[in-house]
Formats: sequence, structure tokens, C-alpha cells
Amino acid sequence: MDTRFREYDEYTEYNMNKHEQYRLNQLGEYPFARLRKLLDGLTPNPELEFIDAGAGEPRLPLPSFVQPTLDAHISGFSKYPTTTGNDFLRQSIAAWLKRRFSLKSIDAGTQVLSANGTREALFAAAHALINPNAKSKPWVMMPNPMYQIYLGAAITAGGKPYLQPCTADTGFAPDIDGISHDVWRDTALVYVCSPSNPTGWVADGAYYTKLLELAEKFDFYVLADECYSEIYYADKPIGLLEVAQNMGNTDYKRCLVMNSLSKRSALPGLRSGLIAGDASLIQNFSKLRSYTGPATPLPLQHVAAAAWVDEVHVQQHLNIYRNSLDAFFKVYGGEIPEGSFFVWLPVEDEQAFVRRAYQEQAVKLLPGSYLGAEDENGMNAGSHYVRAALVDGVEKAAELATRLQKLK
Ligand SMILES: Cc1ncc(COP(=O)(O)O)c(C=O)c1O
Repeated sequence: MDTRFREYDEYTEYNMNKHEQYRLNQLGEYPFARLRKLLDGLTPNPELEFIDAGAGEPRLPLPSFVQPTLDAHISGFSKYPTTTGNDFLRQSIAAWLKRRFSLKSIDAGTQVLSANGTREALFAAAHALINPNAKSKPWVMMPNPMYQIYLGAAITAGGKPYLQPCTADTGFAPDIDGISHDVWRDTALVYVCSPSNPTGWVADGAYYTKLLELAEKFDFYVLADECYSEIYYADKPIGLLEVAQNMGNTDYKRCLVMNSLSKRSALPGLRSGLIAGDASLIQNFSKLRSYTGPATPLPLQHVAAAAWVDEVHVQQHLNIYRNSLDAFFKVYGGEIPEGSFFVWLPVEDEQAFVRRAYQEQAVKLLPGSYLGAEDENGMNAGSHYVRAALVDGVEKAAELATRLQKLK
């Protein structure tokens, strides 16, 4: 029998399975759609200048190299780019990874891919790395609260989300100590976000080491979302690949890392990021991407390559984020998060607080529960928190704190 037909039959049977057919319906509404509904019909206080601290969209000046690089390579719009990212971009990414994480080697050809921003890549990765028909390894682990893409990816790829509650009691670290042997054995993939959106927690070397030891023992993949790695308050965050190398895992076996120019370079509209790690995972992922086709236009790849080379603008941005955190917490009080530009504030009723902030103080925030999911006990680890993004510079951060202080 022609194996292509056999595969087609299996695929049809699989699609006919009613339960599997409606995976998309298992996804909740995206947090910003829920936020729009929550604020629908309310008017922000017209006496105050509006502050949008809802979305994690950096609003800093465009780095100076963007326009000239774009101008110089504008003719590239008349060519198809490759889905892997063209050679010059992958070289530039590999060189940055080596510098930033003290890697002895990373091969641009086999261990690096370009992404159209990390969002699509974080989502697609689960589809490349987990096998929906392999019932023996259903768990896709992720922090709770989380960047909601992990949850959507796990569900649509046919995995079962396993939520790791990140609470103040554990310093917001996703638990890896209290998980049973059976769950680890049945885990296919672990998403880890460091620095974390929304809590600001940062993985240290010991945490990543333990996770990689478990990955080796129980044979699962670790996908580290490190898109806030260049935004931190005190110490530069360590990276997963660096830890793997220090453990002697110089091939980065079982590891994938994603990073982005959206946060590092304040270029969220460029839609450019990186995927790096285990060559065999990269190969599988690359195959999937050759079908889904998320190729970055060539002129934008040139801008991205220039951004990975330049650290001056990154340092300027970092100073602004650090000063914004200082300015915010000087007024509002509390503990400054280790990483990211988010502040994660405990409140009694997060939806009521967000509505009041909007109406009384002309401030847009995000309810923490919209970034979490209910666990089997009906608990949402994002409840009783709101998230504010300090993305508008130091003065606005101080003003935001003053306004939120009035709602306490
Ligand atoms: C934790 C986290 N990961 C990934 C992303 C995706 O960013 P991008 O697709 O712009 O690289 C975001 C964006 O807000 C994020 O907060």
C-alpha cells in the first residue's frame, strides 16, 4: 500500500474524532479582547492625560539605525525571503548569542532560526515538538499566570496543559520540586518564561540546572522564552543555553530558546525574533515552518541583523526601564521585580480595580486573572493581581504610581 494513502486515512480518522475536532473551542478569549469588554461603555477621566499601561508594548524612540538600514535594503521587497532567515541574519543572531551568553559555539546554519516575532514561534513550537497521537506524554508544563500563547499552543497541539502556580509564597517561581515522578514521565514539553511576564521572576542558574537535569532524566524538551532577557533591574539574567553549556550539554540537547527584538530593541512592529538550540529540534521545527511559511521580508531581516549587533540602544533602553521602576516604586512602595518592565500589584478585586483605574484615573491596566488559567481546584493564580507595563518613560511611570496610589 502506498504509505501516503495510509497516512491520509489516519489523518482523516483523526480529524473525524469529534473530541479532537473542536480544540479551538477550548481556547478562551484573548486577554485584550476580554479587557475591551470589561471597559466597554466606561469613560476614562477626561481631566487626566490617558496612560495606557495595559499592553507590553515598548514606546521608546526608534533606534537610529532603523531608517538608513531600511532605505539601503528596500529593493529586497522584490525577493522571497527564506523561512529559516537568510544567512546574514542567522550569523548575526548566532554572534549575539555567543557574546551575550558566553557560548563557545552555536552554529548559525543548524542551531539558529529567525522568527516573525516570538509569539508565532512559541505557538508553533508545540505543534512541532509534541505528538498529539502519543498519548503517553500529554503534559505541556507552563507557569500560571503565563503568556497566554503557551496555553493556546498546548491545547491546539493536542497536549494537556499542566499549570505551575507562581505565587508570592514561592517568589513567583514555577514549581519544579513538588511535581510527581508520573507527571514528569508523561511530560513532553516545559515552557519557562524568564524574566517572567507578568511577575518579573527570573530563573537563576540553579533553577535552569535542575530543570535540565529533569529533562534529561524524563526525556522532555525545555522551551525558554527569554524575550525580556535584556530588561532587568540589577543582575543580567542567565540564559538556558549558557546553563546547558556549563553542564557539559554543549549541543543544547532538549533545549530551545526564543528571544525577540520587540522588547530588547523596542521594535515590536518589526516582528523579528530568534529561535536557537538543539539542532534536531531546530530541524523538525524548520520543516514545519517551511510549510507554514513565516518568512521575514528581506529589508526587515537587514534591520534585525543591525539590531542584534548594536548594544548602545539596548543600554539606553535599559536605563530608562530601570529609572522607571525606581520612579514607580518610590511612590507606590513594594518590591522591585528582578526582570521585565511589568509591575505585578496585589489588589483585592482585580477587575473592579481595573475599571476604577480607567474611570477615575484614566489608566489602562490588565486584570491578572486574564493572564492566568483556572487549575483543577478552580484557582486562578493571576487572581487578586493587576499588571501594569512601564513602557512610556520615567515621568509617566511616576505619574502612574501616583494615580494608582490613590486607588489603594
Ligand atoms: C512573555 C512573552 N513572550 C513573547 C512575547 C511575544 O513578543 P514578540 O512576538 O513581539 O516577539 C511577549 C509579548 O508581549 C511576551 O510578553
